[in-house]
Amino acid sequence: MQRVFKVYLFLWPIHFSAVNAMDIGPRTVFGKPKVIERQTKEPFREKSEERQFAWRLAADLWNQHYAASEKSLAIPQWQAFYDSAEIKRLFRFLYNDLSDRNLNDMNLEKMISAEEWNTEAVGRVASWPDWRLENLLRSLYVGFNIDERRVRGLAGVSKVLTNGKGFTSLMFHLKNCRNGYRCSEVNFASSSIWVKAAWRRIDGESTFAHFPTNQRTLMSLNQSDTSNWQDVLEFTEIPTPDKIFTVQTASGSRFALVGMHIMSKVLKDWLWVTLWWSNEPDSDFGADRPQSLQEKSVLTNYKLCSVSTFERLPHGRVAKSLELASDEAHSSSLGASWCSNPYIEQGEHNAKTNCIGCHQHAGTKVKQSEILENLETLGLLRNREDFPSDYVWSLGGPAGGLLDDIVGEL
Ligand code: HEC
Repeated sequence: MQRVFKVYLFLWPIHFSAVNAMDIGPRTVFGKPKVIERQTKEPFREKSEERQFAWRLAADLWNQHYAASEKSLAIPQWQAFYDSAEIKRLFRFLYNDLSDRNLNDMNLEKMISAEEWNTEAVGRVASWPDWRLENLLRSLYVGFNIDERRVRGLAGVSKVLTNGKGFTSLMFHLKNCRNGYRCSEVNFASSSIWVKAAWRRIDGESTFAHFPTNQRTLMSLNQSDTSNWQDVLEFTEIPTPDKIFTVQTASGSRFALVGMHIMSKVLKDWLWVTLWWSNEPDSDFGADRPQSLQEKSVLTNYKLCSVSTFERLPHGRVAKSLELASDEAHSSSLGASWCSNPYIEQGEHNAKTNCIGCHQHAGTKVKQSEILENLETLGLLRNREDFPSDYVWSLGGPAGGLLDDIVGEL
């Protein structure tokens, strides 16, 4: 089989093309997605309602933002989030500035000034030239057989982006840890968002991986022993930039965005959304994309699934192809919800997962492989009462994470 590469890209600093960090300004100015401001924190009762919200959230995050100093520069809002290396750098900056004595003086204002410093530093410091990004891209190549250390380790962490609120929550949490309070509980602010983006290199390739998600395909996945998305992999032509979100690095390498995970803390157990590229984007999981998103946005080439509960929600009013595909996806889920991204969830049994079931173990000693091997008991329905890192894997865990890493530096 032709080897299909997957690459996770450090999204910030965006050194490629004409974009320069100095042009963009502190990211706090972007605020939170409009749809979150309207959210009442009421749980969704029907799938259709949850999905409509998820589409609007995705669209808000994809909305173009104009750079403060250069009006012609437009980038999607999610490209302006923090990545983990930045969080570490900011953290170091803040803590070097704060002695133990006045640690309790840590406040939002100080963080904002640190963010301003960071925005400038990213474009200025010698340790962040283009080649570093290029090297990083190269080092993050992963084949289909994902090496768990890479997924969970620092390389994995670096593909994680977070917004200002998430960052602030993290900072206060770390401060409490340092001050000797329990490190094991964290609760993110309601406007927190984590994003994980998956990219595939397209220059020099002749075909492109494609995963149908219709009822028939999902049925064959359910019947296979492995429930691995690779079982239904097809190949298609390389999509053109009007059909898939594409970036080009300074050396000419081109990367296409094949998938994107979004976690939004609008609900206590988060809202889980994932988008994946499709060459038939308007059927099944793309059939209910709101009319308002049908304008000329590249987002119209992506499908979406979402989850906000451990248990399955009733459909509500949905398109027939979506209903059929969704019923099939849920048919072996033991009453649990379902949502899995073919380009990102590539382990065995991963096509049956539902985001929340696996993420509930984040911050504990439970391993991802253990969860996937014991989905029915561990990884679908609620299995625990405590959520040590509020469902966020990258904060810490057996293989380390942001938290361990940063606390280790103190
Ligand atoms: C079998 C376990 C598993 C499943 C299922 C899973 N994830 Fe994750 N996810 C992880 C792990 C481990 C990480 C951290 C390492 C990495 O980035 O790969 C992670 C990272 C993330 C992150 C970055 C924040 C964090 O927790 O570190 C987001 C956002 C995310 N996942 C969303 C999703 C969504 C949305 C789904 C469902 C479509 C999903 N995940 C399904 C295990 C899982």
